[in-house]
Amino acid sequence: MSQITQTGIVETLKDGTFLITGSTGFLGKTLIEKLLRSCSVKNIAVIVRSKKGLTANHRIANMFEQTFFDRLRKELPEYAKYIKVIDGDLENPSIGLTSSDHDWLIENVNFIFHCAATVKFNEPLEIAAKINVYGTENMLSLAKEMKNLKGFVHVSTAYSHCPRNEIKEQNYPAAITPENLKNMFDLKEELPQKILGDWPNTYCFTKAIAENVIFKSGNHLPISVFRPSIIGCTKSEPCPGWLDNMNGPSGIATGVIVGFIRTIPLEANKVTDMVPVDYTVNAMISVMWNTVHRYQGTYETNKEPKIYNYVSSVESPLTWGKYIKEMQVYYQNAPPFRSMWYRFNVFYTNIWIGMILRFLLHRIPAAFMDLLLLVRGKKTKLLKMYSKIESMMDLLYFFTTRQWTFDNSNTKELWLLLSEEDRSMFQYSFDKFDWNSYIEDNFYGIRKHILHEDISNISEAITKNRKLFWLHQLFIGFIFYIVIQIFWWLKSFIFYHISIIF
Ligand SMILES: NC(=O)c1ccc[n+]([C@@H]2O[C@H](COP(=O)([O-])OP(=O)(O)OC[C@H]3O[C@@H](n4cnc5c(N)ncnc54)[C@H](OP(=O)(O)O)[C@@H]3O)[C@@H](O)[C@H]2O)c1
Repeated sequence: MSQITQTGIVETLKDGTFLITGSTGFLGKTLIEKLLRSCSVKNIAVIVRSKKGLTANHRIANMFEQTFFDRLRKELPEYAKYIKVIDGDLENPSIGLTSSDHDWLIENVNFIFHCAATVKFNEPLEIAAKINVYGTENMLSLAKEMKNLKGFVHVSTAYSHCPRNEIKEQNYPAAITPENLKNMFDLKEELPQKILGDWPNTYCFTKAIAENVIFKSGNHLPISVFRPSIIGCTKSEPCPGWLDNMNGPSGIATGVIVGFIRTIPLEANKVTDMVPVDYTVNAMISVMWNTVHRYQGTYETNKEPKIYNYVSSVESPLTWGKYIKEMQVYYQNAPPFRSMWYRFNVFYTNIWIGMILRFLLHRIPAAFMDLLLLVRGKKTKLLKMYSKIESMMDLLYFFTTRQWTFDNSNTKELWLLLSEEDRSMFQYSFDKFDWNSYIEDNFYGIRKHILHEDISNISEAITKNRKLFWLHQLFIGFIFYIVIQIFWWLKSFIFYHISIIF
């Protein structure tokens, strides 16, 4: 395919006014950082809701103080002048905008990245629908009023249609229309089975309906749907290994390396589809570029929105087994000091076996620890923590025990359209991706950003880990001893009560 003759990414987006939703989230803040550092923007307007007694302005000011923005503060000290904070809530039909903010947006915005969503798998349907479905409808209505809009990228998920095994870059019908969805809010008790149908959670379910909304009402806009798989820590920008949440594999890895999670519902040879957040942002920006050129002057003619699956499994598949095995290598070199036990895992796929393993490896030690706390006059907490973490793992079961076949032709085709310069500035290809170094960065990222441990404590941590190792061996020996004693007792019991005469 010949390279596109239009202007490159930076040239296309230069001096543009961006509107970003979900800017306080994992993906949104990474996007802002990259746009400010690399794209000579005119303005970035962010729609942010007030939360926990903090105004939208306060929240954004706090966000920019995070170490994640260190590089930006150094490279673009005057970054703040490009940010326009707009107080708003997507659940509100008018997004809660003041009339002056509304007028400013419709006069000025050129590019929209709609990232806001609730990503909780167990969110009540009504809340998930209000944010993910109706929030998207509200954004589309606002976009339709905009006078200078050149591109709209709607962020969905590669798992929006996860009941299918094969996911192409096409619009599939969801189980229900947004209008009918409203009638379901009262059926709270019957919710999971009756309404969700084949969808495993309210998150994927509402993201699927939101995509249908785009295809129904967004087709007079220059719009694309971007579907990333599981978004993990940064690969390199602004620094390697950065993350600020425990969603997906990183959450499981954190629980494992601190010795808290000891048994996991997971099929080690299944592919976990993970994409670094900075690569994801680069792919999104490239999709915006493609959207602008695809629709330039033509979007009134009702072009179909294009879908981009952004996945790693097509070019560089990574199995759960490899991910966890690699994590173990780095764990041996730098175990966390805060470990509560030596790392030890048993994987299962059968729910009954899982129940037994959880009882033996989580509940019994937790009950023992809680008893110790009680004796010392402290509040018990371990059993409660395990019950919470196990419910979270149950929500992940659907994703850790199966894999999908994705088609990513549009995303690959887009990569071929980029100039050499754009490819190096907005790298997102998984061709020959180095998982080993990524997992190493992921490990040290978890240690630093989630567990807040500095590498200076490594020798202390190794010493502690050695003690935990021997404690662990002692414990295993003790369990073996108990099991053998039980067998001996059973044997003696049986032979005492039963006589066999041939
Ligand atoms: N993380 C992943 O692995 C992943 C994978 C595939 C796709 N995605 C998609 O990527 C997008 C971003 O995900 P993320 O991981 O960055 O999620 P996140 O960290 O939970 O951020 C969600 C963002 O949405 C905002 N938001 C939620 N409800 C809102 C409302 N009513 N009004 C205004 N803002 C609202 C949140 O604002 P507050 O701070 O006010 O709550 C936050 O900024 C989502 O569309 C998600 O579906 C994520």
